[in-house]
Amino acid sequence: MVQPVEKLLLFGATGDLSQRMLLPSLFGLHADALLPETLTITCTARSEYDDAGFREFAAKALDEFVPADRLDPDMVKAFLDRVRYHALDASSPEGYEALAESLGDISGGLAIFLSTAPWLFGPTIKGLKSAGLTAENVRIGLEKPLGKDLETSREINDIVAEAFPEDRTFRIDHYLGKETVQNILALRFGNSLFEPVWNARGIDNVQITISETVGLEGRAGYYDEVGALRDMLQNHMLQLVSLIAMEPPAHFDGTSIRDEKVKVLRSLRPIEAEDVGHLTVIGQYGAGAVAGKIVRGYDEELEKGSDTETFVALKAHVDNWRWQGVPFYLRTGKRMAERRSEIVIQFKPVPHSIFAERGGMLQPNTLVIRLQPEEYVRLLVMAKQPGLDREGIRLREVPLNLSLDTEFAGTQRRIAYERLLLDLIEGDPTLFVRRDEVEAQWAWIDAVREGWAANGIKPKSYSSGSWGPSAAIALTERDGVTWHE
Ligand code: BG6
Repeated sequence: MVQPVEKLLLFGATGDLSQRMLLPSLFGLHADALLPETLTITCTARSEYDDAGFREFAAKALDEFVPADRLDPDMVKAFLDRVRYHALDASSPEGYEALAESLGDISGGLAIFLSTAPWLFGPTIKGLKSAGLTAENVRIGLEKPLGKDLETSREINDIVAEAFPEDRTFRIDHYLGKETVQNILALRFGNSLFEPVWNARGIDNVQITISETVGLEGRAGYYDEVGALRDMLQNHMLQLVSLIAMEPPAHFDGTSIRDEKVKVLRSLRPIEAEDVGHLTVIGQYGAGAVAGKIVRGYDEELEKGSDTETFVALKAHVDNWRWQGVPFYLRTGKRMAERRSEIVIQFKPVPHSIFAERGGMLQPNTLVIRLQPEEYVRLLVMAKQPGLDREGIRLREVPLNLSLDTEFAGTQRRIAYERLLLDLIEGDPTLFVRRDEVEAQWAWIDAVREGWAANGIKPKSYSSGSWGPSAAIALTERDGVTWHE
């Protein structure tokens, strides 16, 4: 592993992500003595703060987004002592010399984190380069969106590559920082039980749902340009697909794991324009009620009409030996019935039921990996209902339940960004997305969007608080499959 750096430089430090996630995560790491002792954090954005002013701003963010029982005032003060601020207009080449000066000696290593609008990536990288801030002991973390299609993603990747080679480029997909997402690897490759049936012989279909109850959350400008396919499916959901479908890597390291993931992403069967109508469904939320609260429709929230999808469901295939003929049903949306991220593995039925002639009904086994809000792995198995069976054998599906919340109740849970920021500071690329992965993801997504455009497909309305348009139910029911609910 590469050495931890001594300096962290945060672009976009006054932004929403910084307030909600980055500053609280850095504080969490500091509070648990996980940051290198001498690490300083230089924050930058356009706003004209001095150090004291920004520390006040950061303290407010911590107040709002860190649980109160973690906010020991002395600890907050000690954390803020690490934080400095340097106002910078990242779009203009002028300020970078001064930035480098204020950073001072970077011989102990520097990690840069860009949490800015993607159009700023170009000028920022140029500025960093001109000011000597791209040397060999400097690495860079990039927050999404990394482009809006394959072409723009390549442009960004090319710009970054001019200053930072791939092994010093850390692309964030915050789902990879989630504990339960990493648990997929533990479950698959730490147990001998699943792997023999983890293929087309054992598995009938895979379902992945990321449903959210939130709407636009003040991000209208970004979201309306992007939509659910690019906001969630292109990145988080395809990463989940790759972890579920990958071959066992030979080692637990960035190269081995990402080599296997990219093979999956490249094996995704392209959805052709003539198939997009029956393999995908898009929706946009209308008014409705979520958790008992009346909410407005997307148009109303946006204050204009829009064809942007806030829901997408689709049927994907991984075209290789292991997964031939196994559909991967993916769906994600805003303003849905509940907040849930979940992977469901539906196994094949037993080849022959010995219970049928005694009236016993069987259901195929199901493995549910719940990522949030609860964290559990649940295997649904058939059991005999107690009784004398005079009227036939009664069988029932019962859960073998591994609640990670309960099992590891004494272990501190960390938000994804704590893990990812620490990995960036320490230089471990395993949980970051490599260029070839991002580009394979975009190539597949672009074809879907082209199909929608070619066929004039527009989102169907669905009520807020529902599970999306009814066509999403039909998408699986046509195959005799029901979404797990
Ligand atoms: C982000 C998307 O990447 O993920 C948001 O831009 C979405 O639209 C968020 O709300 C969901 O993340 P999580 O961790 O709450 O599931």
